Amino acid sequence: MSKGTFYITTPIYYPSDKLHIGHAYCTVAADAMARYKRLSGYEVMFLTGTDEHGQKIEDKARDAGITPQQFVDRIVTGPRGVLDLWKLMNISNDRFIRTTDGYHVQAIQRIFRRMYDSGDIYKGKYVGKYCKPCESFWTESQLVDGKCPDCGRPVVDAEEEAYFFRLSKYADRVRDLLENTDFLEPRSRVNEMVNNFIKPGLEDLCVSRTSFTWGIPVDFDPGHVVYVWIDALSNYITALGFENDEYHDYEKFWPADVHFVGKEIVRFHAVIWPAMLMSMGLPLPKKVYGHGWLNFGGEKMSKSRGNVVDPYILAEKFGVDALRFFMLRTFPFGSDGNFSNEALISTINVDLANDLGNLVSRTTAMVGKYFGGALPAGCGRWDAPTDADRDLEALASGLRDRYEAEMEKFQFQNALEEVFRVIQRANKYIDENAPWALAKDMDANGPRLAHVLYDLLETTRICGVLLTPFMPESMARLFEQIGADGAVRTWDSTDLWGSLPETVSPKKGDNLFPRIDMEKELAELEKLQAPAVPAVEIEPLAQEQVDFDTFCKSDFRAVKVKDCQPVKKSEKLLCFTLDDGTGADRQILSGIAKWYKPETLIGKTLVAIVNLPPRKMMGLASNGMLISAVHKEKGGEKLDLLMVDDAIPAGAKLC
Ligand code: MSP
Repeated sequence: MSKGTFYITTPIYYPSDKLHIGHAYCTVAADAMARYKRLSGYEVMFLTGTDEHGQKIEDKARDAGITPQQFVDRIVTGPRGVLDLWKLMNISNDRFIRTTDGYHVQAIQRIFRRMYDSGDIYKGKYVGKYCKPCESFWTESQLVDGKCPDCGRPVVDAEEEAYFFRLSKYADRVRDLLENTDFLEPRSRVNEMVNNFIKPGLEDLCVSRTSFTWGIPVDFDPGHVVYVWIDALSNYITALGFENDEYHDYEKFWPADVHFVGKEIVRFHAVIWPAMLMSMGLPLPKKVYGHGWLNFGGEKMSKSRGNVVDPYILAEKFGVDALRFFMLRTFPFGSDGNFSNEALISTINVDLANDLGNLVSRTTAMVGKYFGGALPAGCGRWDAPTDADRDLEALASGLRDRYEAEMEKFQFQNALEEVFRVIQRANKYIDENAPWALAKDMDANGPRLAHVLYDLLETTRICGVLLTPFMPESMARLFEQIGADGAVRTWDSTDLWGSLPETVSPKKGDNLFPRIDMEKELAELEKLQAPAVPAVEIEPLAQEQVDFDTFCKSDFRAVKVKDCQPVKKSEKLLCFTLDDGTGADRQILSGIAKWYKPETLIGKTLVAIVNLPPRKMMGLASNGMLISAVHKEKGGEKLDLLMVDDAIPAGAKLC
């Protein structure tokens, strides 16, 4: 009988060119959770999908010379696309939503109208900065040095007619939800939301655009498309059939039990989404869990940084289960983790090859060697249990409760730690009982040896069941090897020590997790994972000529950085104190905080133009401009300060 329903979601992914192991992190975690809930008797709905609208997709499709629909189709359903990746990672989602699916489009139009009719969506003006060549709107805070963050060209003031959602109206209710319930976890993310977004004042949210067309049209106002979050967040209910006839599971599964989301989109899920649901009078999801990022080399893995790790390479080399296991065993789900090939290989060697793999292969080999492949009847009981017998049995039969407590808190790492404590205890139990010594006198010690081996098989079985949500395929192989059939692979049987029939016939099979030669594999991986040379986009050369005398008026000097500090309340600006050779300090502000840590620049020799008129930024005077090289790598702008040889003295004129 079902224990009830469980509805879990991942974010819907932007179809970028290639999803990486960072994206797979959340989906694998959700998959382990979904499998665990199914195992323990729940009827599960596990949803994932793709978020396919927006200006970026429109631009990328144009660059590729295809329609946006063709572009997203290729990335979602094409070879090595999103669907292929989830197949590779053995993701057991029950449903996959694409925001371009007809039923979702229709439902969004109805949702938009419903919120409009209730007065929570109204028409207003979106005021911002506009970059003509990019045809993009930006807010003041998105600009870099007052210029377009994409192409670095000047922007103009502009306004666009747009619809807004009265988010401000829900500020108090959302704050109460965050502060006084367990809606958002880990708890540490609550303060971040309240202090950074709610206390400064929630502004109404722009929910339509007219400057691009690749979106869901507002059916009662042609020219407007629904902008991002109403389209994306509503997937969690449209995929159940809300406001559409494609599915009929809304009553059964809503509210969701948990939305798993990465930490940078907690804001949308913990503030905007509940406000939208409040506006529609719908129940709120029970929980939003904001997990950390998988970093690589200390930075978030992302395509624009060129540090993505390809799951296909790793899965091919080490097996999907080892990869799934590694991600959830190594990093606490709520915090960031640093991915490295060394850590991956070492986890496989220590936990899987050494501890678990050895336990299975030693035990099954001994049953074969000492008992011809089948233990004698009666081996499950032992009238004079030793301390070690009692210890192992107690630890293994209490495991399920400890594991469950951690899984219910989404603490995968701790749940796995509990399982591995038992596996390690079982390995120690082999050494304590020294089966090879007992086997020397089978007449006297045969029954005791059979009991020791039975205890080991039984412990392995219980651990195997609880590891199934993490490594489904390998655990099926493990059950084959220890001879555990379907009846003793169940959740209920993990609580009943002695469920494994005494007469099972284990078969020593292939090594479940072969040991990996660290040095050799690291060298191979390094070659395979060498980042492709990033495609660099250079701004077109200026066509307009400048006469020599005018050019010569620009005074470029070598300057030395004496001090460099972040500017309070600015995410972009750094304030430089420079030696320009005159003996007086020169202060220049530069919008490069995104690319440099201030302390790393002290002592460097840079180039500045020093005869620009002074300019005030954030209340501070800037006397000149530092010269940097700007280019676009796919996915974002990259900026490098121009640094020259430190032998060049401060004040040297560059001409
Ligand atoms: N489309 C939005 C989500 C809309 S949900 C209604 C989006 N998509 S995304 O593709 O950019 O990101 C999807 C998820 O992948 C996010 O939760 C994000 O945190 C996660 N990750 C992307 N890179 C990651 C890592 N390097 N590590 C862990 N998770 C990361 O945001």
